[in-house]
Amino acid sequence: MDGGSRAMIKSLRGRLFISLTTVVVLTGLVGGVFAHRWAFDEAIETQDSVLIQIAGLVQSGGLTGTQDLHGVDEDAEVWLMELGKTPQGTPEERQLWRLQDGMRDATRKGRPVRVVLRTRSDGSRFAVAQSTGVRDEIAGDMAFRTVLPIAALIPCLMLVIAFVIARSLRPMVRLADELDARPADDMTALPLHDLPSELNPFVSSINGLLRRVHDMMEQQRRFIADAAHELRTPLTALSLQAENLDQVDLPPAARERLAVLRQGMRRSKHLLEQLLALARHDATPSDRAQWEVVELDRTARGVIADLLREAIRRGVDLGFARAEPVPVRGEPVMLSAMIRNLIDNALRFVPEGGRIDVAIYQDGATCMLQIEDTGPGVSADEIDRIFEPFFRGQRPEGEGVGLGLAIVKRIVDRLGGSIEAVNMTEAGRTGLRVVVKLPAATV
Ligand SMILES: Nc1ncnc2c1ncn2[C@@H]1O[C@H](COP(=O)(O)OP(=O)(O)O)[C@@H](O)[C@H]1O
Ligand SMILES: [Mg+2]
Repeated sequence: MDGGSRAMIKSLRGRLFISLTTVVVLTGLVGGVFAHRWAFDEAIETQDSVLIQIAGLVQSGGLTGTQDLHGVDEDAEVWLMELGKTPQGTPEERQLWRLQDGMRDATRKGRPVRVVLRTRSDGSRFAVAQSTGVRDEIAGDMAFRTVLPIAALIPCLMLVIAFVIARSLRPMVRLADELDARPADDMTALPLHDLPSELNPFVSSINGLLRRVHDMMEQQRRFIADAAHELRTPLTALSLQAENLDQVDLPPAARERLAVLRQGMRRSKHLLEQLLALARHDATPSDRAQWEVVELDRTARGVIADLLREAIRRGVDLGFARAEPVPVRGEPVMLSAMIRNLIDNALRFVPEGGRIDVAIYQDGATCMLQIEDTGPGVSADEIDRIFEPFFRGQRPEGEGVGLGLAIVKRIVDRLGGSIEAVNMTEAGRTGLRVVVKLPAATV
């Protein structure tokens, strides 16, 4: 999958994650605040009713003296304050005495307290007081314990959301990976099963597009093949006529022109053969099942044997620098066409006394084919274009039409490999190095 589509899915994932977690966090916050308040109020009320119960106990005579109360719960800071039958004692106690019976807020020794005031039947009054600070602390503790599970749940929910989003988007990522891993000419439809139904229209559209591209490529391929084929017949007839003319007694000037004519015809024939080859190696993946395992070094040996005589004629040293048996999957014809085109180019550009080194070896799961020559190489501004059909550069040699490397590129693509041409500039020498990488066959 390329960076663009990955980033798109990532941002979709990011957007989902951010919006869902925002909702969760906000819900948690609002819920937490309310739960905290309710629990706090509830705890205060509970403490109030405890104070009232203690006051009831004191009034019924079941509980007397401050000691008793401290014995109940010292931490809770609950005091019984005897106020007498008339206002007396500290100003605070006198002030308390004047309040009516019931639940009140007051101060004790300068600190705020919650008190329950009662009057006994003999007219004496008392107050059961509890420090407001302690009460708030206890209520705060209880409220905090109510909120704790909510707070703990939020990170858990965020994890679950991230997991669910990743899981839901996985089919999309898988689909993109599957498309990326395909050879350029693989136009088979994407499978619709195992996919969430939301992706179905999307996949159907891609499949429709693949079908249309396939049809278009097929049409184009057939047109080239048909055109080349149609042209071959009249050209053969013309060649025959030219051959016949050669037998006839001709003045030297006419014979000279005839030679030019025949050379032009040879070129045209070569162009047609190359066009046919190009069309043949274009987008026909259906025959992949019939490919056989071929030892590439053996194929190369055959091609070199064929071209050796031409190499000797040109005074070029053509041979192997390294030849290891490497199996690749393909048709022998297309593999030898590939090697022949590459060596043929090198032969045309290498000057007399030069050399062409072919190397074939295995590098892990890759089959390496390397062809190095001592020719002039390709100028820097042309090297990116030499695989384009009909590109011949500024120094074309021989009778080529600029289709050789385009054919080679298509064969390499079809085999699922890659090709690269680099100029060799080490130690003042020149030359072109073409490196073909093919997936090695497992036998
Ligand atoms: N070994 C080489 N050394 C230098 N230039 C090369 C070599 N191979 C290819 N080229 C350049 O790439 C061009 C395209 O090659 P190719 O497609 O085989 O076409 P053709 O051989 O018909 O000219 C050639 O015209 C030439 O400019
Ligand atoms: Mg060529």
